[in-house]
Parts: sequence; C-alpha cells; structure tokens
Amino acid sequence: MAASMSDYRKLARRRLPKFLFEYVDGGSYDEVTLRRNRTDLQNMALRQRVLRDVSNVDLGIELFGRRQSMPIALGPIGLAGMLARRGERQAVVAAEDAGIPFCLSTVSACSLSEVADAARAPFWFQLYMMRDRGFVRDLLAQAREQGCKVLVFTVDMPVPGARYRDYRSGLAGASGLRGAVRRGGQALRHPGWAIDVGLCGRPHSLGNVAPLLGRKTGLDDFFAWMRGNFDPSVTWRDLEFIRGAWDGPLVIKGILDADDARAAADLGAEGIVVSNHGGRQLDGVPSTAEALPAIVDAVTGRLKVLADSGVRSGLDVARLLCLGADCVLLGRAWAYALGAGGGTAVRHMLTLFQAELRVALSLTGVNRIAELDREALVA
Ligand code: GLV
Repeated sequence: MAASMSDYRKLARRRLPKFLFEYVDGGSYDEVTLRRNRTDLQNMALRQRVLRDVSNVDLGIELFGRRQSMPIALGPIGLAGMLARRGERQAVVAAEDAGIPFCLSTVSACSLSEVADAARAPFWFQLYMMRDRGFVRDLLAQAREQGCKVLVFTVDMPVPGARYRDYRSGLAGASGLRGAVRRGGQALRHPGWAIDVGLCGRPHSLGNVAPLLGRKTGLDDFFAWMRGNFDPSVTWRDLEFIRGAWDGPLVIKGILDADDARAAADLGAEGIVVSNHGGRQLDGVPSTAEALPAIVDAVTGRLKVLADSGVRSGLDVARLLCLGADCVLLGRAWAYALGAGGGTAVRHMLTLFQAELRVALSLTGVNRIAELDREALVA
C-alpha cells in the first residue's frame, strides 16, 4: 500500500518497462534543474503557527470560472496513455472524482474524443505549436467541440532538450527493428504491463496526432515526427493566431522569466504556468521555487499564476502557494501513480496530496488557500 508519492514512484518502477519509467522519471542533460526543483522546494521552511482555530480548513479555490476542491490540477503529460491501459481515460475520471481539472496533452495516447467520452465535466487541453497551422486550427476546434474550456499553450519546447536516459533506455536513438526489440525485451520483463497495456491497451496509437503520422505508428516514428513538426519559429505574434482559433481562457505554460510573464499579460493571456518542464528542457535554468516570486511580483492581479516542476507532496503544493502560485500542476506525481496502479492509484494519490495540504494549512495556522502567502514561510 502506498503512503506517499515516493511509494508510487517505486511501484511504477517495478511495473513499467524501463523505457517508460525512465521517460517519466528523467530530465534533460545532467539533470541539474531536475534536482534543483526538488532541493529548492525541500529547503523552503514553512512557518509553524499554533492555537489558531483551524477547525474549518477549506482547500477549495475558483479558477477560470470553476470551483475546484483544491488548488491542484493534473498537468499535461505526453504518452501518459502508455502508462496504464487507455491511461488518459482513467486519469480524467480520477481527476473528476477528486474535484480538480485534468489537462490532456497534444501528444496523448487517447484522442480528445476518447477522453471526452470518459469525462463527465469539461477538461483542459494542452497545445504544442506545429508547423501545420491548419492542423492546429482543426485540433483546437476539436478541443472546443469535445467540451474543453481551458487551453494550455506550451511554449518551452521549440526544440526538445536531450534526455540522456531516453537514449540509454532505448526510447530514443534506437530506431526501427533494433529499437522495437530492445523495448519489447523490456516489456517482457514486466508481464503485467505487457499484457494489460502493451497487448490489450493499443498504446501505440497517438490519438490526436495520428492523422499526421499516417501509417507510421512506432515510437521512433513519433519522436522523429515531433522533431520535424514542432515549430521552432513560433513567436509572441502567434498568440494572435491562437486567440483567433480559441475563445476560452488561454494559459501560457513554460514561463521562467518576469519579462516573459509581463508579455503574456500584455497579450491578454488569462494565465501562465511557471515551469521548467520538470527539468526536462534547458538544464541549468532556475527551479520554479526560485523563479516564481519575481514573476508573481511582475504580474500579480493581471493573470492567474500556475506553477509546476518538482512537486511531490501536498507540502510542496503549499510551498508554491506561499510563493504566490494560484494553482499547482502535477506531472510526474500522477504519472507514477497511473503507472503503478491506473486511475485507482491516481485517485488515492490525490487523497494523499489533499491530506498533506490540509495539514500544511492547519499547522501554518490558516483556514483558506488565499491566506497562504510569504508570511507563512520562515524568512
Ligand atoms: C513532453 O512534454 C515531455 O516532456 O516529454
């Protein structure tokens, strides 16, 4: 039985083929930023306050016109649907059960319509800008049709950061038959996953981008396609194009600099995600905890500030809220749980986060999320 997210990480390592576990777990280059995300959060001391009547703690918030049970959302994860059978379908239901939003990645295994079919409430959609703008426009129209209300536009991946672990595991670099044999061998050492997901789960059809991939369905085809089709020429001016194709709340994900945050606010975005992509892109950049305060100071009151990267517990959520985040996206945390035990485990992991967050509020002496601010940290 898992008592914390780190237990789910261990269980995921046991259940998933190596190439998938390493894909989720790893960062780019020497993983300096990956580690920095963790150590900077862990080094933040919460200020314990006592005897303040915390019998009415309420973790709820309102974000983009909807009530959430807590200031957490499941962030977009590429290929999440390979971690469990039709994984994104399971995750969207788990998020709904917990009363929080789920964000579907452009490069998910399940398509928008498949996830919408499982969902009972609107979910969020994440977009990567692709060279083929007609395709992007159609994708946004589909997202709208399927009831998505919030668009998360990821801007920190004009090119992918090199992830050495993916080369070592055979996810990247080993193409064609050689790659398939390596990954197949790893899958056979994890028969639970191999039967449940690999055989019965059709994990290789990449729902939303399948029309662009055509008959190429291998993982190496997918990564080659990604390198060729993500658009590195994208600029702030492309936001006009997105605005024209999307009339709901727009959240720009991958901001680490106060000037970029101001630019997003000037262009009328409703939110940003302060993020270094979980240490998976430019290694050596600041952690989210380091970057967040100056960004919050630069745009406070102009848009919602969300944050991610390095969050492994409700206490980490509390820390980012103290620094000024309005909501925190989980990435690896839900991926480990999904890999370990599907939607049931994601649901349970969210109850753990909720309990941890409740304790954090109670012992910093506050009853409402909005009361968590820098005063709740030891200076
Ligand atoms: C995709 O967003 C990734 O980080 O692999």
